[in-house]
Amino acid sequence: MKQPRRYAQIVGWGKYVPADVLTNDALALKVDTSDEWIRTRTGIRERHTASARESSATMAIRAAEQALDVANVDPAKIDMVIVATATPDYLFPATACLVQDALGAHKAGAFDLSAGCSGFVYGLAMAADGIAAGSYDTAMVIGSETLSRIVDWADRSTCVLFGDGAGAVVLAASESPCGVLATVLGADGSGADLLILPNSGFKDPVTPEARSAQMPYIRMNGNEVYRFATRAMGAVAQEALKKAGMGLEQVDLLIPHQANLRIIQSAARHLKLPDEKVFVNLDRYGNTSAASVPIALCEAVETGRLQPGNTVVLAAFGAGLTWGAAVVRWQPLPEEVRRSWWMRLLRWLRLRLAPWSSRVRRVGRHVDTVVGEATGDREQAKSTDRA
Ligand code: COA
Repeated sequence: MKQPRRYAQIVGWGKYVPADVLTNDALALKVDTSDEWIRTRTGIRERHTASARESSATMAIRAAEQALDVANVDPAKIDMVIVATATPDYLFPATACLVQDALGAHKAGAFDLSAGCSGFVYGLAMAADGIAAGSYDTAMVIGSETLSRIVDWADRSTCVLFGDGAGAVVLAASESPCGVLATVLGADGSGADLLILPNSGFKDPVTPEARSAQMPYIRMNGNEVYRFATRAMGAVAQEALKKAGMGLEQVDLLIPHQANLRIIQSAARHLKLPDEKVFVNLDRYGNTSAASVPIALCEAVETGRLQPGNTVVLAAFGAGLTWGAAVVRWQPLPEEVRRSWWMRLLRWLRLRLAPWSSRVRRVGRHVDTVVGEATGDREQAKSTDRA
């Protein structure tokens, strides 16, 4: 018998931005720029920057907790945690593992995804495909970035563009045709050098002697990236709509990657979408890379720009070069499901107990090692005696 198609419904969403705000005027005190230049060339007015206590993992956890709260889902039900980031806490372990542990998502697999600013859309596609294939039922996709740590604050051509933050969604299997309807992903590694974090991997590792001269800071060919972006974003949105069997007239809202207002306006012109159908919030956040689309999605819901039954297109481009788009039918869970008090209590307990359960597992591993070593020693002594 033919199985009904499974859809990945977005049932929860959340965002977190650090409290510290860096305005254009404040930036102009550090580097040779002006509020006027930044606003007219990019549309950005201010950005948030992480404090010393914040990182991509801590921000991802806050956004994920909010998304779980909206979905009213028990973290133990999550099968997969994907964190899209260019600024992981470590190269390994994955930031996704730190998030999985903090949420008490014991059943979940977890991995980080590197696709630059397209990372969240890539993660959404991976999760939706996994759900459609029946590999998992519930997935968490997060975009989280601490770009303020990889920006050269002396380079005015890049430092004015970026900001920190995180956004998350929970996806759940559904048989009704809603959620992620189609995705398109693309890449062109021939443009790898156009937006790059040199000395950040192990090809040319930073040597202790030259550490300050080789700091891994974002290097970008702004004009080339601009040209690529204006072509890529509209084209990929259109391709995703075609794959979903839909036309531009069916789009209620476009949520583009928030890199530059002029790039967004150019994509909107290409798609012939009026301003009211294009979501923009980069004036307050700057470019938060993989976090920009989920933060914008979250704000579109919070401000009522996205209503149940709406069709929304998410479109992004970024380092790689990469690009991606997703067509989503917005259908949140009914209120009664989201209000269930016992599930709220269970989740509250699970999140509060997660650090303790993590400690217990650490102690358990330690005990295992000690007992294992003692048993090993005894057996070795016995075999020496026999010999
Ligand atoms: N403040 C003041 N002047 C600045 C400046 C700043 N922050 N940054 C650059 N300038 C100067 C340049 O030095 C140049 O001066 P010059 O003419 O005397 O040489 C002038 O402004 C014009 O620079 P240009 O690079 O041509 O500006 P632009 O209008 O192309 O805008 C970007 C530059 C970076 C805003 C634009 O190219 C862009 O947005 N590119 C895409 C970046 C992006 O989206 N990256 C992330 C991808 S995920």
